[in-house]
Formats: sequence, C-alpha cells, structure tokens
Amino acid sequence: MQSYVMALDEGTTSTRALIFDHQGHKITEAQQEFKQYFPHPGWVEHDPEEIWQAVQSTIAQAFINSSLRPDQIISIGISNQRETTVIWDRETGEPIYNAIVWQSRQTNELAADLINKGYKELVRRKTGLIIDPYFSATKIRWILDHVPGSQKRAEKGELLFGTIDSWLIWKLTGGKVHATDYTNASRTMLFNIHQLQWDKDILKILNIPLNMLPEVKSNSEIYGYTLPYHFFGGKIPIAGVAGDQQAALIGQMGLEPGTVKNTYGTGSFIVMNTGTEPTTSNHNLLTTIAYYLDNKVTYALEGSIFVAGSAIQWLRDSLQLLDQAEDSEQAALSSKSHNEIYVVPAFTGLGAPYWDSEARGAIFGITRGTNRNDLIKATLQSLAYQTRDVVDTMQADSKINIKTLRVDGGASRNNYLLQFQSDILNTTIERAKTAETTALGVAFLAGLATGFWKDKAEIEKIFHVGKSFTPQMTISERDHLYQGWKCAVKATKMFKN
Ligand code: G3P
Repeated sequence: MQSYVMALDEGTTSTRALIFDHQGHKITEAQQEFKQYFPHPGWVEHDPEEIWQAVQSTIAQAFINSSLRPDQIISIGISNQRETTVIWDRETGEPIYNAIVWQSRQTNELAADLINKGYKELVRRKTGLIIDPYFSATKIRWILDHVPGSQKRAEKGELLFGTIDSWLIWKLTGGKVHATDYTNASRTMLFNIHQLQWDKDILKILNIPLNMLPEVKSNSEIYGYTLPYHFFGGKIPIAGVAGDQQAALIGQMGLEPGTVKNTYGTGSFIVMNTGTEPTTSNHNLLTTIAYYLDNKVTYALEGSIFVAGSAIQWLRDSLQLLDQAEDSEQAALSSKSHNEIYVVPAFTGLGAPYWDSEARGAIFGITRGTNRNDLIKATLQSLAYQTRDVVDTMQADSKINIKTLRVDGGASRNNYLLQFQSDILNTTIERAKTAETTALGVAFLAGLATGFWKDKAEIEKIFHVGKSFTPQMTISERDHLYQGWKCAVKATKMFKN
C-alpha cells in the first residue's frame, strides 16, 4: 500500500488540504475560502468554528478527489497564518470570541500604551519583535478585556489560547493536545526566543496567565493523533507544524544561513536564515525563529509587509479594474507609462521597516492621461519597492550581500512583477518550480518525523528552481525610480487616519 503525507495549509483567506507523494508531487488539493469579518474599520476577524468546518470539508474533498483512504496518510503537517489569536473554553472547546486576525488593528491603543510605558526595548530584547498590534499578545489582552468574566476564567485555567495551528491540533486530536511550535510561539510577543520559553515578565506586564498558553514543541515530531471521528476513521499522527512563512522557507530549502525567500501572499514576508545565533536588527526588522530541528534552534530575520497580494485583490474587487488577478501581468505590460506613478498600499498601516500602524495608502504622479493599465502596473511595482525596502535593510543588518532571492506565493506567477523585482533590487530572482512551497515545507517536516523521508539530503533532491529573472535595468534608472518611491512613502506617512 502506497503512503502519502497530508499538508493542511491554513492561510488568511482560505484553508487547503494537499496530499504529496514521496517525490514531493502534489496528488491532490482541496481549497475552501472562509468569511472575513470587518466589525469596525481596520478590524479583521475570523470565526474559528468556520475555519474548523472548512478544514474538515477540505480533508474530505482531498480524499474524494484522490480516491485515497485515511490510513494511506502516514502523517499530517500544519502550516498556518501566524499571530491570529483564538481563545477557547477548555471544557466545551467553544471559542469565547472570534479569532482576531494578524492584520487587525483593534489593539492599536494597547500596543501604543506598552510603548508609552517604556517596554519597547525589553520586548525587543526578549522576543526579537517590535511592539505592534500585529502580534498575538495584545490580541489576547483585548479579548480578556472585552469578554466579561474571561480574565477570571483564564486565571482559573478554564480558557486556552492558541494560534490557528494550536486550535486545529486541539480540534483534530479531540481536545487531547494543546500545543504549538517554536515558530508560531515566536510570533506571539510572549515567547523568549533566547531562553526558548514563555516569558514570565511579559506575561506579568500584560496580565496573561501562563496556564492558558500551549506547550511549545519542535517543528518535526509527533504532536498527537487525530481522533478517528475527525479524520474519517484514521488515527494519524500530526507530525509537522510551522508558521506559514517559516514553512515556505523550509519548502524553498532555505536551510543554509544567508538564504532568503519572499512569499507574495496576502502580505509579503521576506525571511532570511541567519543560522544558530540570533541577529539583532538595527533597522526594525524582526528577529524570529526559523525552525527548531534536530534539537537545535535556527533563527531568522524577517521583514513583514502587510499588503502585497491584497493590493491586487483591491484592484480586482474594490476598484474593479481586473476580472482576475492573473490579468494584471498583461495590463502592466500594456501600460505606456514611464513608471512615474507610485501607489503606496498602506491600507493597514506600514509594516517593515517603517512600522507605522496609522499610515494610510496614497497614489502619486497621476495625470489626465493615467489609465487602468498604468494604475495596475504601479500597484504591482509597489510590491517590488516594498520588497526592496526590506532587502536593503536585511543586507545592512546581516552584513550579507543577497545575491539571490527565492520567491513563491500567488503573485510570484506574475512574470512582469518578478522582472521588475529583479531590476529594482539588482538581484537574481529564482521562482520555485512548485507553487506549493509552504505546504511542501510542512509536509517535509511531517514526513521527516515519521520516516517517510529519511533525512534533509533526501528532501533536498526534491526541490527544483523553476524560472530565474536577472536584472536588465540601468543603475541610473533604478536609482531614480527608487528615490521616487522613497519620496512617495515619506509623503504618505504625513497623512494619518
Ligand atoms: O504573519 C502573517 C502570515 O503568516 C500570513 O500569511 O499566507 O495568510 O498571507 P498568509
């Protein structure tokens, strides 16, 4: 009987179940979108039960599509949107509030308050993070403040916190396992990335009880087994867990210090493997955990850009300039503009390296002759400019000259974008052959823990580069365009909501 690995890839807008064979080929994929709730401007929430239902139906769909049986799955890996916060009742398993999504800005005031109280350096030193509503800590505080009686219940041990990985591990194991992995823990702003444990000082500052936090485990080990009732009769080990951006780094074989990947998803997340010592950023990048494997932690520098693919969705859904995101490539190639238009998509503030949660988007340089294609091109270019902001900073912090940027994610299929990215960075861009680096990354972790793949050397053979893009732009043009972008960002930051 042939065996396979299943990856559950839990994104911000959809959940997917994928099955891979021993060669890393995708046998099948099932996907389901779930609802985004915007209760107030700037707030983004999900219903955790809806996510769980979507997970169950995609698992079922994957089995139907592939005609495989649950007992043919040797292990399951979970990759997930990070930071998104769920709190649920330990007894009933019911969430006490919606999941507060990483993009949500409802804890702006809580984050500002921590900064005003002078905790910036302490948080930075212990967690490697910048105080921002992006991370889970202030989201937990917000739920405990807003759901009556919840602080007391948390103190009594009646409530549990988890990011989406923990929530799904809990559900899949029928409430037996409350755990997360090092990468997700490192995004909560509660985890000491040097001591590798929940940080008692920060928990005290935020008045968050330790007993509601999950146990932290390595990226590749058996977390627990699916309750057969929840996995169509199969008792299958969950054996690989990682935040989606770290999973993509692993799927891109970013296992050597100095390798860098960029995933153009809802946002864009540039992650550099910096080896076994944490690198401190002098320019507002995050120091975070890349993975914990073979009893060893590997660190990363990360630049998180909040709006990337979602800017293309904005062109499609809000401005209705596109029928489908893929059409943006042809539109950009048809534009006759000389790149004089700049779109700064600061829809939910600006992430790295600016960290300005109150900035809002702007468009510069339009004339009476500006048309649809020009706006689409400028929006695509904004993904490349934001990436350059982060990559420049990363080079300065790490003292590593980045020669190649590995890319994946939805917008990486856009050849126009990748050529412009290569031009504006003056760096070779390598697009992975498979679009599934995130799911494959976590499948590798689950497969390594259960002997499906022997070792890293075996999985390295599976990875292939698809297409490369090399710089074609002159130095003076590159400098001129990038200066224009810097001015546009500066002007944008002057307007606050
Ligand atoms: O930090 C947020 C990130 O993990 C979200 O990823 O793929 O849903 O855009 P994605």
